[in-house]
Amino acid sequence: MSVRRVARIAGAALASALLLTASAGAQTAGAPAKPGAARAAKGAASRGAPAVADPVATYGPRFASLCAACHGANGRGNMPGTPVLAGQHGFYAITQLFLFREGRRSNEAMTAVAKTMTDDDMRGFAAVIDTLPAVPAPPQPTAPDPARMAKGRELAVQHKCAFCHGDDLSGGQQVPRIGGQSEEYMRENLRGFKSGKRPGYTQAMGSAVSQVPVEDLDTLAWYAARVPVAAGAAASAPTAKR
Ligand code: HEC
Ligand code: HEC
Repeated sequence: MSVRRVARIAGAALASALLLTASAGAQTAGAPAKPGAARAAKGAASRGAPAVADPVATYGPRFASLCAACHGANGRGNMPGTPVLAGQHGFYAITQLFLFREGRRSNEAMTAVAKTMTDDDMRGFAAVIDTLPAVPAPPQPTAPDPARMAKGRELAVQHKCAFCHGDDLSGGQQVPRIGGQSEEYMRENLRGFKSGKRPGYTQAMGSAVSQVPVEDLDTLAWYAARVPVAAGAAASAPTAKR
């Protein structure tokens, strides 16, 4: 077995361990602080739950000071090429932070940020992202071209984008919300999945886009960015799929 393969397996195991503890954290996040909570959290930590008792309370202010400059305080910033985090799923977010930290996804700005993160940091930031409600894109002066919207919808069904990302493209768990995501960001990243620049955590996206012409990917990015977003929908809404 090659070293790369071993490293990949070890990486996958670590990420899934992080995901499991992240989900344990998500269930307790937002629970009112009670006397004895620290003791309970300590007991939970020894069973593999997060070491940080209330990750959202701890990491909310850090998100505001370290991440909001680029991603926006509510998770919808306006810096070009920067993804919307509002309404994104904690499971998906922690996987991507992990990939950036391990150098398996690369971007000058984000790699620098993720490199310094501990596992607790990744869990904490992912827990904060999971609480950010979806925020619709700012209204445009003209409604999107209905024919191009219909074409985008057709492509999304044809290429099974809607099958994995959900009919309303809101995603769920490790499948990201792409409805309302920045068009420019998606265009670059869809091209990146196709060229191999962004390998992905699994093969899912690489194979999904391998047969799709670049101009259709661009139409899909245009369409997904304009799909109506239910304002305030919780990141991990029960309607989210797969
Ligand atoms: C200097 C600007 C900048 C800062 C600061 C920054 N980010 Fe990012 N972030 C980016 C960019 C740009 C990308 C997209 C990179 C790419 O295209 O691969 C990104 C991507 C991400 C993603 C992946 C989103 C997705 O949809 O795949 C997550 C999660 C994320 N950032 C979280 C954070 C967190 C948490 C912080 C604070 C600790 C942070 N970022 C700080 C610029 C920034
Ligand atoms: C088999 C399930 C599956 C199918 C089919 C699929 N996706 Fe994905 N998609 C995923 C997963 C899982 C990810 C997370 C990528 C990763 O890190 O592995 C993702 C990531 C993405 C991203 C990156 C989002 C971000 O925030 O960075 C975009 C954009 C995207 N998909 C669009 C599409 C489009 C457009 C199609 C149809 C051509 C499609 N997907 C088909 C599962 C799927």
